[in-house]
Amino acid sequence: MINKYQNIVILTGAGISAESGIQTFRASDGLWHNHRIEEVATPQGFANNPALVHEFYNTRRQQLLDPTVQPNAAHLALGRLEREHSGNVLLVTQNVDDLHERAGSENLLHMHGELNKIRCNHCGMGYDCMEDIGAHTECKSCGKTGGMRPHIVWFGEMPLYMRQIETALLHCDLFISIGTSGNVYPAAGFVEVARDSGAHTVELNLDPGSNSELFHQSINGFASQIVPAFVEQYLC
Ligand code: APR
Repeated sequence: MINKYQNIVILTGAGISAESGIQTFRASDGLWHNHRIEEVATPQGFANNPALVHEFYNTRRQQLLDPTVQPNAAHLALGRLEREHSGNVLLVTQNVDDLHERAGSENLLHMHGELNKIRCNHCGMGYDCMEDIGAHTECKSCGKTGGMRPHIVWFGEMPLYMRQIETALLHCDLFISIGTSGNVYPAAGFVEVARDSGAHTVELNLDPGSNSELFHQSINGFASQIVPAFVEQYLC
């Protein structure tokens, strides 16, 4: 049972938010189907055309205010697991939406940043923001304009919280990967670190990810169904 595991690390990707109405990246209708990564998700893309990048993230940020976009049963099951499990449960997400927070998860690290935060390229100040931003946006700290950017980790930039994540992976006895295609490192390599630390590793995904063969266990299905079932089956 899951209670026999004392240090659980969970990794989530876009697939856990798909049933909440948030697009994934690499599906046929995914975000990278009609946007070029190098234009909207790299520092060079931002330097070349900040207005295009602001439009891309402003649209995704505003979607979080859509009342139809709510945490689904998978998010809620992970919030319950953290509350009810006797051991440590660390949730590492590649997602930049706020659905895990809204589902009650607190021990949570956004390794690719967060849509509802922005930061100033001039002074480095970061703060919460749900409004559209652009070249006109004035920094609340240094007062300059032209420097505000989404608090998102772009391709070529360092993911956040890697020291904490690596420490947790080296000490975990259960690693669960949910809703990620296993295409982007370092997240796609977490399963190997966990395995090498002796952890049991489980993939919960609509279909096998690129690194599926590295997991001890792979369960395929819709997150809103297989995640609550997994938590329910193992929690008690
Ligand atoms: N239930 C479970 N899994 C699902 C569901 C669902 N309802 N819908 C889709 N999936 C799975 C898909 O099968 C796919 O394997 O979720 C995965 C989503 O994969 P990607 O679109 O590649 O998203 P992700 O793995 O999170 O991407 C990682 O890449 O572009 C960067 O920074 C971006 O954080 C992102 C990173």
